[in-house]
Amino acid sequence: MSDILVHTEAGVCTLTFNRPERKNSITAAMYATLADALEAAAADPAVRVAVFQGSETVFSAGNDIGDFLNNKPSGEEAPVFRFMRAQAMFPKPLLAAVCGPAVGIGTTLLFHCDLVYAGDNAAFSMPFVNLGLCAENGSSLLAPRLFGYQRAAEALLLGEPFMAEAALEVGLVNRVVPPSEANALAQAQARKLAAKPLSALIETKRLMKQGAQGEVMARIREEGESFRRMLAEPAAREAFTAFMEKRKPDFSKV
Ligand code: COA
Repeated sequence: MSDILVHTEAGVCTLTFNRPERKNSITAAMYATLADALEAAAADPAVRVAVFQGSETVFSAGNDIGDFLNNKPSGEEAPVFRFMRAQAMFPKPLLAAVCGPAVGIGTTLLFHCDLVYAGDNAAFSMPFVNLGLCAENGSSLLAPRLFGYQRAAEALLLGEPFMAEAALEVGLVNRVVPPSEANALAQAQARKLAAKPLSALIETKRLMKQGAQGEVMARIREEGESFRRMLAEPAAREAFTAFMEKRKPDFSKV
């Protein structure tokens, strides 16, 4: 079975994280599959809506830490940055159903979704600082804008998880439902959207995003430059090695 399942039916392209043994953490190969699928979905007139989903127990543990250690993204054409561009620029409605942990990019990709449905077990986190890294995927711009500065600082500087109800309160998710209902609800909403005139959806999304998109892309690039540099620095090396060795990181010397 593939780590990313891509399935299109009735105008809805569903991208399913399918790597449960690694909590749906994402490797460079998976980013490439996701970027290819989103680029194809954007261009295919038969696709009207795209949906990200995981399982009832986990959305995604974010970047695969081992893969990041051994296979660092080298530049703007690295699969992770292709993926970020593809989701940030996706012209059609983009939905997500989130249950269980949504770590790192598992949370930051939601800033680029139009509708997000969460299971009541969803736990969102952006622990970049705890890994010796900085915010990515536009989150340094979009989290303060959506949450307000202090709540964004809590999420991005402390990096502690926040639960579905808190995500609902700050506007990151549209609705919280039992985990067994989240994927089905996202699919039902996607089908509703797929029955609407595509040109009207695309034009309305374009107008809602107008003005912000250039700024978001510039921020993704700037964060990416810092992120790539920080990946090679001692704090990230210590955090990643500690994760692999299942111990607490020691930042006292970095
Ligand atoms: N990269 C690589 N492997 C990962 C991973 C990741 N991001 N997240 C989880 N795994 C692996 C674990 O090492 C573990 O492997 P093992 O079975 O060989 O021990 C397996 O997936 C199961 O994870 P585990 O931690 O036992 O599950 P959990 O339910 O207790 O916790 C998480 C789930 C997501 C909260 C926890 O795994 C976690 O915090 N992961 C790291 C998230 C992270 O920092 N991501 C990077 C963001 S930039």
